[in-house]
Amino acid sequence: KDYIAIAIDGPAAAGKSTVAKIVAETLSYVYIDTGAMYRAITLKALQQDLDLNDEAAILELLLHTKIELNKQEKSQIVLLDNEDVTNDIRTSEVTNNVSYVAKLPKVRKEMVERQQALADNRGVVMDGRDIGTHVLPKAEVKIFLVASVDERAKRRHEENLKRGIESSLEELTREIENRDFIDSKRETSPLIKADDAIELDTTSLSIDQVVQEILNEVNRYF
Ligand code: C5P
Repeated sequence: KDYIAIAIDGPAAAGKSTVAKIVAETLSYVYIDTGAMYRAITLKALQQDLDLNDEAAILELLLHTKIELNKQEKSQIVLLDNEDVTNDIRTSEVTNNVSYVAKLPKVRKEMVERQQALADNRGVVMDGRDIGTHVLPKAEVKIFLVASVDERAKRRHEENLKRGIESSLEELTREIENRDFIDSKRETSPLIKADDAIELDTTSLSIDQVVQEILNEVNRYF
């Protein structure tokens, strides 16, 4: 095999997607943002005014929903039933509700199957919460990215301001803590470091340093 699978997990806003994209680009691998898939189904459920705790209803919805992750030029786009929802899945309404949908066991089972199919027979960098533990348990490289809550909130805050999005540091801190709590405490595949994952604390590391650490691990396989 001349390609491997790279799993990147960790709490909200730890920089997973930023480094995953760069690593994928460097290796000419596919980047798969599994959080975007949970966000997309959450958006659709909210649009249809469904009860987010109604597991049967959300599963039924998901089974009739097409979610595509495409690369366009240098950016990633997310299609929900052929419609571009790349920005719509990042609103605070979706962000603050996605963890309730993501804790439904039957929804997770369907998502994991789709994610495994996307990763089949190709070099992938996949990020999420349960990639190293459940989606790709045989991934050759597993990374668990962490950073302090304050640092994560600060980074997200600065990112928002740069994009001209209204932002409150206090609110972001609360949202991140709440999401981590639900994601870590849920019964089905909670956010947890895989035993064989390498933990990187990015609080005082630059993006380049994190990318380099991951590429060093990758190079040990070739
Ligand atoms: O990665 P992102 O922050 O966009 O993920 C949004 C939410 O989707 C997470 O807070 C979590 O509830 C859920 N998620 C998950 N398992 C994954 C990826 C995301 O439960 N593999």
